[in-house]
Amino acid sequence: MTTPSTQPGLFITFEGIDGAGKSSHIAELAGAFANAGRSVTLTREPGGTPLAEKLRALLLHDAMDALTEVLLVFAARRDHLCRVIEPALARGEVVLCDRFTDATFAYQGAGRGFDWQSLLKLELLTQTGCGLEPDLMRNPDLTLWFDLPPAVAAERLVAARAPDRFEAQPLEFFTRVSGGYAERARQAPQRFARIDAALAREQVAAQVLQQVTARGWLAAAGGAA
Ligand code: TMP
Repeated sequence: MTTPSTQPGLFITFEGIDGAGKSSHIAELAGAFANAGRSVTLTREPGGTPLAEKLRALLLHDAMDALTEVLLVFAARRDHLCRVIEPALARGEVVLCDRFTDATFAYQGAGRGFDWQSLLKLELLTQTGCGLEPDLMRNPDLTLWFDLPPAVAAERLVAARAPDRFEAQPLEFFTRVSGGYAERARQAPQRFARIDAALAREQVAAQVLQQVTARGWLAAAGGAA
């Protein structure tokens, strides 16, 4: 049983093109926080609630136009934020979320060419309210961006399961998505940490830990938790 935390909640998101290899690192970081005595909510987007998971299935497999795709992504996010993310942060938990709004700017904005300004408006609308203080927009405390050349990611994906609507996109799409992440990182440099995902697994894990320990959120390796 975990006792309620007196520490403030922490919202960390993980981003990158398909094939960047973030999944195992998310699980590893969750373990590190749990070992340090923190309650962890491990979740993902699109998804994370029963409703948002239904929307995820539609998004990944059903053909739709760009605006429909954007609205479904934000609808899923709103449900997830209000029902899972905000309550967990209010309880003082560490929320580790596999993708969040940066993915919408990267995939729907840069990838599909959807209007960036409209995405900014939807971001503001979706990430305010929900028990948040007036005028406060929820943003991650840290976004770990797993950056990998699209050609390398494509090679990794070849061995993966049957591709969904996004994974099936051509290399040029992922080059644009990558550019979208770079643009978001440029716009919020204090929130973003670039992880060189082309390195060996252990080195990638070390970079992830380094980013978190550098902020004082976990003790450095070998130190007391
Ligand atoms: P996943 O395979 O990493 O769980 O992500 C599912 C797919 O959804 C991935 O290809 C990226 C895509 N996606 C978007 O297009 N827009 C979004 O806002 C999010 C969160 C994911």
